[in-house]
Amino acid sequence: MNTIDSLKDKRVWNSEKVVRTYISVADLQKPEQVILNILQDRLPYWRMLDLGIGGGRTTVHFEPLVYEYHGTDYAERMVEACIQRFPKVGPRTRFFVLDATDMRNAADHYYDFVLFSFNGIDCIAPNDRERVFREVQRVCKPGGYFAFSSHNLLYVPRMYQVKWYRRWREFLYQFYRIAMLIYYNGLPGQYADKKFAVLRDGVEHFSLSIYYIQPEYQVWQLKRMGFRNVRVFSYKTGQEIDHSRLNTLQGDAWVYYLCEV
Ligand SMILES: C[S@@+](CC[C@H](N)C(=O)[O-])C[C@H]1O[C@@H](n2cnc3c(N)ncnc32)[C@H](O)[C@@H]1O
Repeated sequence: MNTIDSLKDKRVWNSEKVVRTYISVADLQKPEQVILNILQDRLPYWRMLDLGIGGGRTTVHFEPLVYEYHGTDYAERMVEACIQRFPKVGPRTRFFVLDATDMRNAADHYYDFVLFSFNGIDCIAPNDRERVFREVQRVCKPGGYFAFSSHNLLYVPRMYQVKWYRRWREFLYQFYRIAMLIYYNGLPGQYADKKFAVLRDGVEHFSLSIYYIQPEYQVWQLKRMGFRNVRVFSYKTGQEIDHSRLNTLQGDAWVYYLCEV
């Protein structure tokens, strides 16, 4: 199994090319838009902590709506890029460096809403993942909300499938990609019985190890840790998934979770 070397990951997130890519995106993913709609009426009264903001994609949408916005990332270059990208922000908006596994500079029970979007939590070593959840519970008010997305282990067999592409370059590239998947991770069958796994899935040219988890197990884990009213949303459609259908999500590369603290 691959291990996650978070220091190496941080170098990747701090690299100029990656920062430039993330700074240029602004669209919300479908489930993020659904979650924003669910919370919209309350956002003007809320203090929001945006973890792992990258180039500020979610800042574009949430910062103008909330009472107070803290945009954070453990990659210093991402935070600097956000400060430059958003010169005109609300009086209670700040961007600063914060490691989601160790938020000692954040006060207890301060935030109404914590977001860790676009699978940022999957860059974190499996042993530290629970620490992130504990830290979220500490910095969030009781009754506050936590939303995040995480890669779906049920999707792994799809990653190895040959697909039809119009452009021959993309068609041929997938054979390289599949060969690399086998090289780094072995064959997909070995993940069928697992609850979670760490894979090199091709993100940033196979330089990052990424955590994948079965949605049903993720929900169980969140409940076990005391999170309440856990809701799951499809990446593909944005629709809420009934918990009885969590084992049928083979088509979603990742899913969003929304829960109460
Ligand atoms: C896939 S990018 C997503 C960026 C942004 N949220 C978006 O949706 O465009 C993951 C981000 O998580 C950040 N990240 C990874 N580990 C982190 C940690 N331990 N604490 C805070 N941020 C972290 C990375 O630096 C990176 O900016």
